[in-house]
Amino acid sequence: MTNGKVALVTGASRGIGRACAIKLGEAGYKVAVNYNSNEAAANEVVEKIKAAGSEAVAIKANVSDLAEVKTMMREVINTFGQLDVLVNNAGIVKDEFVLMMNPDTIDQCLDLNIKGYMYCTQQAVLKMFSKKQGVIVNVSSVSSKLAVPGQSVYSATKGAVNSMTATMAKELAPYGIRVNAVAPGFIATDMVEALPEDKKEEYLKDIPMKRFGTAEEIGDVVTMLAGPACSYMTGQVIVLDGGLSL
Ligand SMILES: NC(=O)c1ccc[n+]([C@@H]2O[C@H](COP(=O)([O-])OP(=O)(O)OC[C@H]3O[C@@H](n4cnc5c(N)ncnc54)[C@H](OP(=O)(O)O)[C@@H]3O)[C@@H](O)[C@H]2O)c1
Repeated sequence: MTNGKVALVTGASRGIGRACAIKLGEAGYKVAVNYNSNEAAANEVVEKIKAAGSEAVAIKANVSDLAEVKTMMREVINTFGQLDVLVNNAGIVKDEFVLMMNPDTIDQCLDLNIKGYMYCTQQAVLKMFSKKQGVIVNVSSVSSKLAVPGQSVYSATKGAVNSMTATMAKELAPYGIRVNAVAPGFIATDMVEALPEDKKEEYLKDIPMKRFGTAEEIGDVVTMLAGPACSYMTGQVIVLDGGLSL
């Protein structure tokens, strides 16, 4: 059973995006599952959503490329006829200390984590305006609020996500479009699995709840932000970090 609404989740083949897509599908949204390279993983997400009784389609697009974002949006509309919810999730982290910062790293992080969110939001809003309703949920990071050595570039991109969330929320509120963000702490995905073991143990010591979060825990909150329970909330950044930033 669908709820008649359509959600697009960027970077939904793995990790947090995957969990958001599945949770939204279980909540009745028809879901466009964006991926960059991992078609098999994206198709598996599509099958899970269909098994939960909703509809889904996998769409390949590099969301740091405006032309590909425009094509992806056309495909969403051609498939489902509308777009109600955008989850800007596709992002990368590349830790480098200030003196080691590589121009390519800076470009990649800015292109995906900032420009990608802007391109997708702009193209989504063009589809939402006519209905005067819509929801954008940006996946930020606790690194936007907490200084983690090596993350100057990453934290700058996530700080930008928080700022654009507030500004876009104010701009778009008169048009019935809400914009919020979640700021996860350490979540057990490929991104965190890639950290060296000693780093993981060090980070765990700093988390009052003494565990990493799960992608599903983020997906639950993203789904709540998309729905009527949060109909009077806009411009907010919800921190989900097991107490890390307290
Ligand atoms: N994991 C954490 O602890 C954590 C904490 C705070 C915030 N976050 C944020 O949460 C988001 C997701 O993180 P994650 O840990 O779930 O990442 P992940 O496991 O590394 O998955 C990344 C996803 O993004 C997709 N992707 C990568 N480049 C893309 C591009 N150019 N265009 C479209 N899709 C692209 C990947 O697609 P393919 O499979 O096709 O490569 C994959 O689905 C990011 O914004 C990250 O900054 C994560």
